[in-house]
Amino acid sequence: MRTAVVAGMLVLAMFPPGRAGEVEAAAERGRVALTQTGHLKPGWSDAAYRKAGTLWNRSAPDLDKQPADYAAAFIRRYGLHPAPYPNDGLPMGLRRGVLADGTKEGVQIDCMVCHGGSLGGKSYVGLGNTQLDLNALLRDLTRADGRRLPPSTFVMNSSRGTVNAGMVAAVLLSVRNSDLSFRLFPLPMGTNLPEMDVPPWWHMAKKATMYYDGRTDARSVRSSMQFLLGEKTLEEFQQLEPQFHDILAYFKSLRPPKYPFLIDAAKAEAGKTVFVENCARCHGTYGADAEYPSKVIDLKTIGTDPARAYGLGLPLVKHYNSTWFGADYPVKEQMTGYQAPPLDGIWATAPYLHNGSVPTLDALLKSSERPARFKRPPSTGFEHYDTRNVGWKFEALAPGPLPKSASTEDAQAVFDASRFGLGNQGHTFGDALEDGDRIALIEYLKTL
Ligand code: HEC
Ligand code: HEC
Repeated sequence: MRTAVVAGMLVLAMFPPGRAGEVEAAAERGRVALTQTGHLKPGWSDAAYRKAGTLWNRSAPDLDKQPADYAAAFIRRYGLHPAPYPNDGLPMGLRRGVLADGTKEGVQIDCMVCHGGSLGGKSYVGLGNTQLDLNALLRDLTRADGRRLPPSTFVMNSSRGTVNAGMVAAVLLSVRNSDLSFRLFPLPMGTNLPEMDVPPWWHMAKKATMYYDGRTDARSVRSSMQFLLGEKTLEEFQQLEPQFHDILAYFKSLRPPKYPFLIDAAKAEAGKTVFVENCARCHGTYGADAEYPSKVIDLKTIGTDPARAYGLGLPLVKHYNSTWFGADYPVKEQMTGYQAPPLDGIWATAPYLHNGSVPTLDALLKSSERPARFKRPPSTGFEHYDTRNVGWKFEALAPGPLPKSASTEDAQAVFDASRFGLGNQGHTFGDALEDGDRIALIEYLKTL
């Protein structure tokens, strides 16, 4: 009897009741909190969503007569994706809510405007949005409401898909004191961050440190709440923190979609050997023996565009660390370089590198193939997917101005690696491989 009790206690100590169940429950609460709750008050009236279409240079479908057609045109215009959860007929990334006066409905953007994407017509929460033209979306919603955006001190997005989330966060923090009370005059932050590609949330299941520079502990829940700095008080942040613990549990429960096309198993097996010899020391191993080292590689070794790494100024880091945000997991003051990310679902997250400067895995692994200037495809439909080079098909462009016939939308699809922070240099670890080995390696990467 007694041994049974002791054994029972031992089992309990090793496997506390419902531990796995509690993690699952937290992830489910997080999913609901993220996809069904508006965290911010609407920034625009309901009419702004309807009127934005009148600002396009081609006629928009009538929202009242053809609501689904209007939504589809809106999605194409701004690079959004249908919501894979109930969202009141709005695209993923927009959300309806109640205005500050408590009465009218209005619209707001949420995390999924950047962190919601699609592949071959299927939407995914947590896949980076590679189509987004955030600048145009914010500008048109504001104009539709009869207002103008205040002049910006930084480039939000020079082309679709890359976005300057870092500067948004820096500007929001610069108008707060260390106790998070609002300031009239912004603090100098010594920060000039570039546009970036949006990382997938499923990386959070493996990462010990987060963000491209790996200077924040991945257990930091507060760092994910920075976008709420536009309106929340310290007390409100504290009340919301448990919800964001659940949201982090949700991120960690996410898994990448499987490669949907054929894979040559024998070639992939040969590619695995190439991977283990050339890549695993930084990116870890996959499959049964999976191990991810969460390594930050110094700038000199990695050689990719340094603007993101240098751009985060020490005054901003110190200020962040002096607030509630950095109190539990302060950002490292020392900058070293970029974190070698997990490669799970890498087929799904083209374009590559932290700034999205390389359109395919083939070009990433053979730097002479990287286009200096290219046009991104108009959607994430699989007709634009390149199964040979793995990534998005692109049209290489010569330097110089676009032809006169080019539309604004053509211009917004152009990625130009000569712009600030968008350089496509570095990560030359695939250059010395024999072509056959590189092809096998790419086949293996499809299996991750
Ligand atoms: C304007 C676009 C944008 C919005 C809105 C946005 N993010 Fe992000 N997010 C990014 C970008 C870009 C990065 C990469 C930043 C970096 O590393 O410098 C990122 C990084 C992250 C990461 C770290 C991922 C990793 O692998 O290291 C988390 C977690 C995250 N965001 C959560 C959120 C949450 C939660 C929200 C909503 C409250 C949100 N984000 C809103 C663009 C955005
Ligand atoms: C010395 C460490 C190191 C080695 C070796 C290395 N990588 Fe990387 N890799 C990195 C770092 C760091 C980054 C992120 C760089 C950036 O975004 O600026 C990266 C980025 C990538 C990316 C883009 C990830 C994304 O989400 O955009 C891919 C794909 C990749 N590496 C594949 C490989 C393959 C395949 C090999 C082997 C041929 C390899 N790497 C070898 C450090 C390394």
